[in-house]
Amino acid sequence: MVMKVLVIGGGGREHAIVDALSRSPQVEKIYCAPGNAGIALQAECVAIKDTDVERLRDFAVEKGIDLTVVGPEAALAAGVTDVFRTAGLSVFGPTKSATRIESSKDFAKELMRKYNIPTAAFHTFDNYAEASAYVKAGPLPTVLKYDGLAAGKGVVIAETQEQADEALRDMLLDNKFGRGRVVVEEFLSGPEFSFMCFVSGKKVWPMVLAQDHKRAYDGDKGPNTGGMGAYSPLPFITAEDEAYALEHIMKPTAAAMVAEGCPFEGVLYGGLMKTEQGIKVIEFNARFGDPETEVVLPRLKSDIVEIFRAVAEGGDAELEWHDFAALGIVLASKGYPASYEKGYEIKGLDKVEGKVYHMGTKAEDGKIVTAGGRVLFVVGRGATIPEAREAALRDVERIECDNLFHRSDIGHWALTGK
Ligand code: AMP
Ligand code: GLY
Repeated sequence: MVMKVLVIGGGGREHAIVDALSRSPQVEKIYCAPGNAGIALQAECVAIKDTDVERLRDFAVEKGIDLTVVGPEAALAAGVTDVFRTAGLSVFGPTKSATRIESSKDFAKELMRKYNIPTAAFHTFDNYAEASAYVKAGPLPTVLKYDGLAAGKGVVIAETQEQADEALRDMLLDNKFGRGRVVVEEFLSGPEFSFMCFVSGKKVWPMVLAQDHKRAYDGDKGPNTGGMGAYSPLPFITAEDEAYALEHIMKPTAAAMVAEGCPFEGVLYGGLMKTEQGIKVIEFNARFGDPETEVVLPRLKSDIVEIFRAVAEGGDAELEWHDFAALGIVLASKGYPASYEKGYEIKGLDKVEGKVYHMGTKAEDGKIVTAGGRVLFVVGRGATIPEAREAALRDVERIECDNLFHRSDIGHWALTGK
């Protein structure tokens, strides 16, 4: 079958998805909405916002799109999958109801409690005084999570009662992220890793593991971000760990979603932590991780269309992976994740030897300029992680732009064990 595919989203994750699709012999045309300046080199970009689900549906119908792949959580939470399905369109991504595993922390935690999926102990509150009293009675640090989508900024690790009260005030009294509840969670420690699986009801196809780096600066310092770098594979996660996570976390979670009447179809992302008490869930996402996808999909040897169709239409697929290591570094706008300026010219992209996925760029008067907080993702490949890292760092040096910064210690857990 020769297919027309639509990818929804416009970041590095979507660029990696477009790149994987462009390697498939089954794909004759790729559209991306809204896309970005890098994606535009590999797909036709369409100026429709990722949450404008009715316009996206109309576009898909009009162009005779055979398969749509959804990237961002905002599009899923806006119900894009439901709207496409109602129109009889084939779509890869969970329904709005299944997306709650990401959009509602409380839903995810209750699901884990009910089905004995290992995670941090927790309690949910909508009342400031009760939440504050609960924190006071328990150990510090403690973790406070706003129950809803807050673009990665709704999690606070409070070291003191004062910090906890301030965060609880923001979330429950001042409604900084909107009206919502707060999950107060036991603080866990250990290396974190991302386990993404293709899921179709009870069927689970694991991807290779990756690790993200959420803090803005070297040494895991500074504020939380959407992710500053990633790599795959992970030497500190053994085959036994991986088997445990698959059998005791990912598969039971897929089965639990079926049992709850909201079967999951798409990518189930387990944000996991290897603690002294075993592997536990920190969070679930209902989509490909960003930037993990940009180091995982390049390692996929199989035709990605086969797996997308197996999930979207029901069926089977087999996944094969390359052995090489991939390590990617985010180039972010100075000031990110707080305020930053846009519109700085980027040069040297033609000198890069590896792969650069665009996260936030746009074309302006024949130039490529910065257009977001996270701007570029530079991926190096090698037989080993140190080799992949060297390759990525060499390419980072080839890119010229006055307003970008990056972390230089991506991969430190793999390289030094801490
Ligand atoms: P989340 O948005 O739930 O992934 O949380 C963001 C980050 O906060 C995670 O990547 C962890 O580094 C940290 N975090 C979240 N929950 C916990 C926890 N229970 N214990 C320790 N750290 C946590
Ligand atoms: N890299 C973390 C995420 O995609 O949520």
